[in-house]
Amino acid sequence: MRLANKVALITGAAMGMGEAAAILFAAEGAAVAAVDLNLEGAQATARRIADSGGRAFACRADVSDAGDVKAAVDAAVSRFGRLDILYNNAGVDIEHAPTADYSIEMFDRIIAINLRGVFLGMKFAIPHMAGRGGSIINTASVVAFKAMPGGVAYCASKGAVIAMTQVAAVEYGPAKVRVNAICPGAIETPMLAEARRRMGAGAVDNAANFAPLRRTGNAQEVAQLALFLASDESSFITGSAYLVDGGSLA
Ligand SMILES: NC(=O)c1ccc[n+]([C@@H]2O[C@H](COP(=O)([O-])OP(=O)(O)OC[C@H]3O[C@@H](n4cnc5c(N)ncnc54)[C@H](O)[C@@H]3O)[C@@H](O)[C@H]2O)c1
Repeated sequence: MRLANKVALITGAAMGMGEAAAILFAAEGAAVAAVDLNLEGAQATARRIADSGGRAFACRADVSDAGDVKAAVDAAVSRFGRLDILYNNAGVDIEHAPTADYSIEMFDRIIAINLRGVFLGMKFAIPHMAGRGGSIINTASVVAFKAMPGGVAYCASKGAVIAMTQVAAVEYGPAKVRVNAICPGAIETPMLAEARRRMGAGAVDNAANFAPLRRTGNAQEVAQLALFLASDESSFITGSAYLVDGGSLA
């Protein structure tokens, strides 16, 4: 098994890509802390893992809240004795408007979850990894590289996640902590379903159908990349940002 004896904390594990990664990581031998604002959803993920013989527990946390994130990291370490993998996956995309019309409150909220949340995860997890080793995976997006009109806060948050990933990789490489980012394209999750409702199916699907692979991706295809980055198979990789987007930027 590719994650035997490892402990992983995954945020946003109630649904979408976080849920898929939690299930895959557990199937590969990791003990999983399934963290989400939605406790019931996280519990359902942990139950699915336990039902298939894996180890997991659910924890409610708002990733934008420092106390919540510290408590989630501490809970994982006290439950499983260590922390090897942090997957900062939780994120939101809740308002679309041109920059001049974008609400200041929503800008701050998106930055707080998508950017501050990733910082907080790294801040509290790194002390448990430094020296003995660890892998951190931060979720960015293709929109870190290509503008999504109406998404000033979301695009800014994802671009900054890549910058933070590089900083932490440089700072903690000597302490054997690897830090990488995943940049998904359009992936079939509840978030994408919501984007179709908000922007119209055409806006989402036309772009996907022009990408080289002519389709949207699924959460398992992202989880496979996260698994590789979480595992020792990627032992010489840090400070990198990986596209998993069907070639949409090519
Ligand atoms: N779906 C896509 O097409 C796509 C593309 C690029 C990047 N992403 C990014 O991938 C990540 C996962 O997206 P998804 O599509 O699976 O989303 P999703 O909306 O389907 O699931 C996100 C999960 O995060 C949780 N969450 C939201 N706010 C939280 C908070 N403050 N604290 C803790 N948990 C919180 C939600 O409860 C939910 O379980 C996000 O960072 C998203 O920005 C998604």
